[in-house]
Amino acid sequence: DTYVIIMAGGVGTRFWPFSRTDFPKQFHDVLGTGRSLLQQTVDRFEGVCPIENIYIVTSQEYKELVKEQLPALVDDQILLEPNRRNTAPCIAYACYKIASRNPNANVVVAPADHIILKEEAFKDTIRIALGATRNEDILVTLGIQPTRPDTGYGYIQYVPDKMTIKKVKSFTEKPHLELALQFLDSGDFVWNAGIFVWNIQAFKKALIEFQPEIAEIFDGGEPHYYVETEDAFIQRAYQICGSISIDNAIMEKAENVHVVLSNFGWSDLGTWKSLYEVSEKDANLNVTDGNLLLFNTTNSIIKTPKEKLVVISGLDGYIVAEYDGVLMICKKEEEQKVKEFVAHAKELD
Ligand code: GDD
Ligand code: MG
Repeated sequence: DTYVIIMAGGVGTRFWPFSRTDFPKQFHDVLGTGRSLLQQTVDRFEGVCPIENIYIVTSQEYKELVKEQLPALVDDQILLEPNRRNTAPCIAYACYKIASRNPNANVVVAPADHIILKEEAFKDTIRIALGATRNEDILVTLGIQPTRPDTGYGYIQYVPDKMTIKKVKSFTEKPHLELALQFLDSGDFVWNAGIFVWNIQAFKKALIEFQPEIAEIFDGGEPHYYVETEDAFIQRAYQICGSISIDNAIMEKAENVHVVLSNFGWSDLGTWKSLYEVSEKDANLNVTDGNLLLFNTTNSIIKTPKEKLVVISGLDGYIVAEYDGVLMICKKEEEQKVKEFVAHAKELD
């Protein structure tokens, strides 16, 4: 059977002030479609697996948000983390939980905050990956043709043969710029989309081999569930569990990683610039949302509350974003500074 794990516990700092600790970007209707990124992520798996096989992993503090946005899910499908421990523990928790329902489950792991424009192409790719992992203990990831030396992604070097599922030679998580430039030039690298497919047994083997401490914590899963409640077990597990991403924890280390080259209009809506890139622009190449009067303003992204008239004159290449008591104005080129701004604006993070 196919199961889906949706990771929805990030805070999306680089998308501040829109993405906030108490209301991160995955819960926003970023594109104005009427569905939040999380809801769209769940919708996307319609036809891939039944809704009762979809699990959301998130922070305890977002429990009500998730329940409100996904009323079709029962409480047991919403896995709540007491602390942020990055994606490896999040995935381990969900995989062991699913294993207790079905030890031979075939699993898709997906982030809750991506945009995918070509839904059918996405489903086709997922089905190809699921077909491969059903009977083989491999770790499959989806690869995206890179367009710039972005240092916020993982880079995958693959064996350039004619196979649909290609063997991975190397996986480098968030390389520095020089390395990213080399990868881009060399041609046989793709970005890691952050969407993984594997069967539960293959995942367990990898975890035991490369993260024995995390495996040890969760591997006791079954007996633990008998002697204590799941909640008590998870509270304890997360106290002692280290914080590490799945990319650093397993994908960079494992030798049975494979990649499916994908083309489904993917975008990680990680930053303001990425929102700018995927959004429709007006005649002056502005992306706007709000009650605006613009003069001589170009190449900018402006997102302000509807109830306030905002008048702007003479801006080129800026981000103007207001949300919940915070107004940020900064150059589009300097958006990597957003993380610093947040650090300084502690009480409004
Ligand atoms: N439940 C839970 N708990 N979810 C988390 C946690 C956590 O502690 N930390 C992050 N997430 C969720 C985020 O909400 C997001 O949906 C997903 O896990 C990935 O985390 P990010 O923090 O967004 O990772 P990234 O974008 O820096 O890097 C990953 O994605 C890139 C593609 O977008 C990596 O897999 C890269 O290799 C990849 O290129
Ligand atoms: Mg991300």
